[in-house]
Amino acid sequence: MATSTFDPTLSLLLLSKFPIPPLIVVLLAGIALLWFAPGGVAWAFSRAARAVPGPPGVVLALSGTAAHRALAKLSHSLRASKLMAFSVGFSRFIVSSHPETAKEILCSSAFADRPIKESAYELLFHRAMGFAPYGEYWRNLRRISATYLFSPRRISAFGQQRREIGAHMVGEIQSLMGRDGEVEIKKVLHFASLNNVMMSVFGKRFDFGEGEGLELEGLVKEGYELLGMFNWSDHLPLLGLLDLQGVRRRCKKLVSKVNLFVGRIIEEHRCKRSAFGAASSSSVCDFVDVLLDLEKDEKLSDADMVAVLWEMIFRGTDTVAILLEWIMARMVLHPEIQAKAQAEIDAVVGEFKLVSDEDITNLHYLQCIVKESLRMHPPGPLLSWARLAIHNVNVGDYFIPAGTTAMVNMYAITHDECVWSEANEFKPERFMEEEVSIMGSDLRLAPFGSGRRVCPGKAMGLATVHLWLAQLLQSFKWLPSKPGVDLSECLKLSLEMKNPLICRATPRS
Ligand code: HEM
Repeated sequence: MATSTFDPTLSLLLLSKFPIPPLIVVLLAGIALLWFAPGGVAWAFSRAARAVPGPPGVVLALSGTAAHRALAKLSHSLRASKLMAFSVGFSRFIVSSHPETAKEILCSSAFADRPIKESAYELLFHRAMGFAPYGEYWRNLRRISATYLFSPRRISAFGQQRREIGAHMVGEIQSLMGRDGEVEIKKVLHFASLNNVMMSVFGKRFDFGEGEGLELEGLVKEGYELLGMFNWSDHLPLLGLLDLQGVRRRCKKLVSKVNLFVGRIIEEHRCKRSAFGAASSSSVCDFVDVLLDLEKDEKLSDADMVAVLWEMIFRGTDTVAILLEWIMARMVLHPEIQAKAQAEIDAVVGEFKLVSDEDITNLHYLQCIVKESLRMHPPGPLLSWARLAIHNVNVGDYFIPAGTTAMVNMYAITHDECVWSEANEFKPERFMEEEVSIMGSDLRLAPFGSGRRVCPGKAMGLATVHLWLAQLLQSFKWLPSKPGVDLSECLKLSLEMKNPLICRATPRS
């Protein structure tokens, strides 16, 4: 009868054939243990009594162009919608795909910082509001911008400028239609949006495609690309030394150009003020003037001013243009919804008057279209830039160590059938039936984030989107072009349409 007794000579034979030193065996076992820890490598040394559920190993999804979808799928499959842990290199992450834990994270003082990416640091954004650490400097910037840039009075003061830029956009679409018979709407929206922010921030409008306008477009494009790029150096410190993706090199080059460009505009303002006196620009017409006025008491250095001004251009341009492109794609895809919105505009504004800011409060259906588009296509599906735990904290029943990066998957929440009925249907009517605030108090739909670091530009962004959408719908009937509408997504700094919308606009009157 065969016995199962282990023959020690066999082990000697094996070891002599494959001599693995015991230290290596221990090391391999250790690595395997780390790798298979819930949440992966970076969570292996967490001292939590109850581990946050999460995939082992290292998650590569963040480096892809559909990170929001991949994370939603992973959280769902691991039944970890409330909270999932994962590792990217040696960085510890958690992600919430549930309104409850999303609120806990966004509204907790523990998560009032943001993790600073190498590109953001190199581009000086740590001196701007979005990446500045939670503290006196950040609070100051929020207060200044809330008072002088984003207050309801300032937003309504910019109304005429918004309307003029919108009308200019309508003219441009008309001429492109005349020339090409179709229009790539994103280019027009991007020009308009950039000019709108430039007017509010720099008091200056540019002609795009030439001179300073062309230079600015190049700077903004390069900046978007660098900030939107997944940089392995952020998560594997050793790689940082090598700068294999060339991020640091490109940032350094860009930042010197930005310094020159924005520095020139600040100097122009200084010259104007010394020639005519600060008081003569009495209406404090743009944000540069505001910052110059505050210079003495608030002590913003030139370098800080460049960072603050530059950030506003970044944050304000992309989000508005991208959201409007998604909305127009929906208008082309759903002609009955488009017609209903146009009927509302005609009824509220009248057929012979051009729509203005004052009409927007009465355009309820139009506002529902914007809400539904933000639900289906949130420009920041992972709420753009994440939060960082400043100290140890509990989220739900889980212990989260200081230094963990926290994300909210707003896309997963707004596409969850348990949260929204018929979640994958575009139905603006749902908001006619139920009033839902999108400003951050209701985490079922918080495209601008929530809590201390909620988007300060939300009211300004919405005012622009509402008015321009009304102007575009009042002026044209929107139809598909030959290739139709492709709703494929591509996540860069914001969630963009993978293939730009090309459509036809025929005048309505
Ligand atoms: C459709 C338009 C917009 C969307 C969807 C949007 C979305 C967001 C989101 C999700 C955040 C992160 C919030 C959080 O962490 O809780 C954010 C932050 C921010 N946004 Fe916006 N945004 C928009 C327009 C604007 C505009 C027009 C500006 C300025 C001109 C702006 C300036 C900022 C700034 C400075 C921050 C950082 C705030 C901080 O960390 O204290 N945004 N935005």
